[in-house]
This record gives sequence, C-alpha cells and structure tokens, in this order.
Amino acid sequence: MTEMKKFIGIDLGTSAVKILLMDETGAILKTVTNDYPLSFPNPGWSEQEPADWWQACYSGMRDLLADQDAASVRGIGCGGQMHGLVALDANDNVIRPAILWNDGRTADETAWLNEEIGKEKLSQLTANIAFAGFTAPKILWMKNNEPDNFARIAKIMLPKDYINFMLTGVHSCDYSDASGMLLMDVEHKCWSEEMLDICGIDMGIMPQLYESYECIGTIRPEISEMLGLPADVKVAAGAGDNAAAAVGTGTVGDGDCNISLGTSGTIFISSDKFGVDPNNALHSFAHADGKYHLMGCMLSAASCNKWLCDEILKTQDYAAEQMDITDDKMGRNRVFFLPYLMGERSPINDTDARGTFTGLSMDTTRSDIVQAVLEGVAFAIRDSFEVAKSLDIDIKRSKICGGGAKSPLWRRMIANVLNISLDIPKTEEGPGYGGAMLAMVCCGEFESVDACAEALLSVTETIEPDPEIAARYEEQYQKFSLIYPALKGIFPALR
Ligand code: XUL
Repeated sequence: MTEMKKFIGIDLGTSAVKILLMDETGAILKTVTNDYPLSFPNPGWSEQEPADWWQACYSGMRDLLADQDAASVRGIGCGGQMHGLVALDANDNVIRPAILWNDGRTADETAWLNEEIGKEKLSQLTANIAFAGFTAPKILWMKNNEPDNFARIAKIMLPKDYINFMLTGVHSCDYSDASGMLLMDVEHKCWSEEMLDICGIDMGIMPQLYESYECIGTIRPEISEMLGLPADVKVAAGAGDNAAAAVGTGTVGDGDCNISLGTSGTIFISSDKFGVDPNNALHSFAHADGKYHLMGCMLSAASCNKWLCDEILKTQDYAAEQMDITDDKMGRNRVFFLPYLMGERSPINDTDARGTFTGLSMDTTRSDIVQAVLEGVAFAIRDSFEVAKSLDIDIKRSKICGGGAKSPLWRRMIANVLNISLDIPKTEEGPGYGGAMLAMVCCGEFESVDACAEALLSVTETIEPDPEIAARYEEQYQKFSLIYPALKGIFPALR
C-alpha cells in the first residue's frame, strides 16, 4: 500500500507556534504547540526574538514527525502573525528583536505618514493608511531611533518569511502579508517604488513577492537531513495569519466572512475584486486565494480574557469563570469594558487608548467583570462590523476561529451582538490548516485554493442569534458606543 502524501501547516502566532501534520484527505494526524516569550520592554512596545520562533518551529517539527512517516511529507505552508519587522544584515543575521504587529511605539512616524505625506496619497499608493502596527512606520522608527541598526539592514521580512528563509534560504514574501507593510501597491501586487522612496527604503532590501500558494523553493539539505524529510519538500510562500485562517475556514468566496478570536480579533471579508474603504478604517489587502479582502483588526481580543484570568484573577480555568453567565444575564450587564489594552487599531486607530471598566458598583460580581470583558471584545468587533455595513457590505453569517472561539459562551455572545449566524468549521486550526492547504495547492494536489477548500472543508455546527438576546445586546452596544468618545481626550494625558 502506498503511503498517503502529507503536508505540514505552521501557525506562527504571537504566544506560540502551532504545527500540524495533515494527510492528503485533509485529516489532521497530529499537532504540536510550542510557546515562546513575548516582551514588552516599554509601555506599548511588543517584541519577540526570531531565533525563538525558529527554535520553536524546528523542535516542533522534530516532535511532530518523531512517530510519523516523515518520508511521505511533500510540502510545508506557514501562516504567520502579520506586520512584524524582521531586519537582517548582509550575513543574514537578525539585527534586533522583531517589532510586532501590536507594538505602538511608532505614533510619531504614523502621524508623519498620515499627516505630512497624507492619507490620500498613502491610500492611492498602497490602498491603506498608516497604522502604528504596520511595517513601514517601524522601519522609519528604526531609521529615526536606531540609525546604526538601520544602516546595517540588508533585507527586511515578515515573521513567517523568517521561518521560510530558515527552511529554504530564500528571501520571500507573499501578497497577503506584504499588504500590511504599507509598501505594496495592493491592487497591482508589486512593491510601490514611490512609497519606498517616501520612506527612504532601497528596493534591494525588499523580498521577492509571490502568491501564497506558489513555491518559493525546497528545504535546505541540512533541514532535510535533520528532520528526515525528503530533499524535495516544497515550501509555499504562505500567508499572513488572517488570510491563512480564512483559507483554513473556507472563507474564499466573494463576500464570505471569518471572525478570528485570537490574541487579536479580526473580521475578514473576502472579495473577488479589489476595493478600498473610502475612510480606510478597514484594511484593503490581497487574499491568499489570489484575490482580495477587507479586514478590521482589534489588537486585544482573546488576550483580554487571558489577561483577566491569568494576571488578575490568577486562574487557568477559563470555563469555570464563565459558568455563571447564563442566557438571562446576556445583554443585562451594567459593567462595560473597553478592550484597548494595547491601544486600538480598527476602527479607531488610537495608540493612546487603554482598557477601562465603567459602571462598577458595590454589587458588581467577579462574574460581571468576566462578562464585561467578553462583551467588550464582542462590541469592539461590532465596531468594525458597523464600518463594513456602512460600505453596504451585508454580512448575514460568518465563520469563527481562534482560541477564543473555543468558548461556547463567547461564540453565542458574538452571534447575538452582531445578530448574525456563526458557522463553526470542521477544524479549529485556522491558520495552520490554511497553511497546510496552501502547501497542497503548491504541490499540485489542487488547481486552486478554492478547489482545495471546496474539497476539504465543511461546517459542523451553526450558532443562530436569539432575537430577545440580540435586542438586549443592541441596546447595550449603543451604551458601549458612548464610552470611548467620552474618554478619548483623557487617554493622551495618561500616556
Ligand atoms: C492583522 C494583525 C493581527 C496579527 C495577529 O492586521 O495585525 O491579526 O496578524 O497575529
């Protein structure tokens, strides 16, 4: 009997890398998760060591393959945290820790881009405006604050591209991830020479661009030897984690939606055609299926609940904390939480914004606080959802994935706060599964990402909103919407 072909999917997240082994029928054979540290060297800064990512990926793949038939692996595909700046010198050594997507240090550079260069110009060149987390402002920050480091840059790349580089020796980037650098002409899928000039960046330091499902090369001989993989294992260009998660949940048709409830919270709307939100509140990016998408991204989503449970309540039992929050309590909480623990991106674009609890009283319980945090995240997702509505995008249903989506309560809250049906995909491994699917397309198993999704994916359960709860949440959302505008002016003073 011939062994089934196998594919490795890597999800290079912010708190951990999750690696999975999938066979050619789409069945997940094994998964391995390896954590790595995240450092906040100054308030609002967020960094990681690329060497930690690689170590976690390498040892993760070794563990993944330990009791499996490594010889039947054909391809590897990676979905990774977006926007992070990895800078290499002329010897391919990492110059400084990577500055991540949720880092807010670039307020001055972001303001310079949006105000001096102008939002209109940025949007015309790249389809987006500057957000503190995007890559171009980080490069400008290095230029302004670490000129010696800046002068040593020979190549820049995004987090998953560093893993692809370690696997293959090739400097590459795919269109979906490159969209979030603010250096790519998203519509025409090429680096914007004018934007590179504006930022004083030499075209020579930019990686080569690929479609996510294209092959960037085969693994280096040392990797093949050390992991027992065939020498001709192909590496797909891969994708930003949101585009990879969209592939992994089958969000590839025109107007399909996926909500990801991970460290960040995103709503991802896939589209056959290129389009730009006239106010640039939603990002306009390329999709990993070869087309485009619009996306709203909140910086702290499941991480708000993790922060509350781990740091404040000192518990790991998240489910126990949610047990008291019954249907009759949904939409009746008098406590509200602003989930801006790392500032906020979509739609308010405010690096100074911070988390707050409002409406506390002597009868407030621990469970009210937990509920407020879960609801605050759902309301903030609704903020981006409202922007989509204002663009006449009518979302009636969405997929949902990410760590937070494992909570049945949180899923119900989101269905009711947004008043839409939520489809739960067969696999919860969004970006890793999407990465493995991209590897399959890269190896010629399917002729397109759409065909792969059609063949492998299905929905196991749908959560419908409850009209009464949704109506209560409608009122609650209107109250939530009053809080940030009232506090906005205060946040800069708390800096
Ligand atoms: C998207 C974004 C986040 C990260 C999280 O724009 O910044 O979703 O990709 O990994």
